[in-house]
Amino acid sequence: MAIQAGLLGRMSLTFFNREAHNKGQPPRSSKPLCIQHYHPWSLKRESRLIQIMEHHNHPWEVIFRTEGRVFQKPFPRFSEVVDTFLENGCQRILDLGCGSGRHTVHLAKAGFMPIGMDISYSGLQMTRAWLLSEKLEAGTVLADMREPFPFRDETFDAVFSTQVIHHAFLAKIRGSIQEIWRVMSSNALAFITVSARMDRGEKVEMVEPGTFVPLTGSEAGLPHHIFSEKEWKKELNTFQIIDISIRAEGKVMTSLVRKL
Ligand SMILES: C[S@@+](CC[C@H](N)C(=O)[O-])C[C@H]1O[C@@H](n2cnc3c(N)ncnc32)[C@H](O)[C@@H]1O
Repeated sequence: MAIQAGLLGRMSLTFFNREAHNKGQPPRSSKPLCIQHYHPWSLKRESRLIQIMEHHNHPWEVIFRTEGRVFQKPFPRFSEVVDTFLENGCQRILDLGCGSGRHTVHLAKAGFMPIGMDISYSGLQMTRAWLLSEKLEAGTVLADMREPFPFRDETFDAVFSTQVIHHAFLAKIRGSIQEIWRVMSSNALAFITVSARMDRGEKVEMVEPGTFVPLTGSEAGLPHHIFSEKEWKKELNTFQIIDISIRAEGKVMTSLVRKL
């Protein structure tokens, strides 16, 4: 039932403050997201249930289930990125790996039409509860970024993804980057952050060049690919790179790119 309710929530999305938030730019996407933006397989109830069962022990599902909303305030560059999205007339935004919703909620508050996608059912439930408590509307989708995304080509004006896509083997990350590109409309923007180093002193095993699996702690068993600036630039070669920088004492690589 919860899945069907979520689906209906997505189908009835409406715009917020469309005029106010565009700063004079014409809106890029004049229609609300509706059912034809989703791939048919994403609407099959059984396949969604199987996915929930498979993802039940994903480390981040366990973190959200046991610890609740672990992130509260938006990522440090959030307001700067929001301004860039506003200046570019973005409306539909994919919050890829939305977790417990801190960015989906703040993007909805800023007047965008966000959709949060995550592998964690508990994270998505917290996102929905947070949206509800603030009387905001946004879509939430349970999906694995290592598989084709459940959206049609060119659905989004922007993608926002913080500390998510490095959680996989490199071949799968490359698939996610291709999927990000596919679901972005022409000239759309993407703000993506990835890991630039593991935590100091963390016990890890290298499972392929550049990919490490923590042996202890809440992310035990979850691959982390660590990107150098040179490697990350290479992986983004289908995009125009607007900026790339390493922050948080060398831990996080942030990037803003455009699909040409
Ligand atoms: C470090 S948290 C960041 C959450 C959120 N982006 C934020 O900044 O608050 C990593 C997130 O990536 C999600 N994630 C990890 N692997 C995923 C996958 N294969 N598909 C979709 N989401 C995934 C986790 O469930 C978790 O919400």
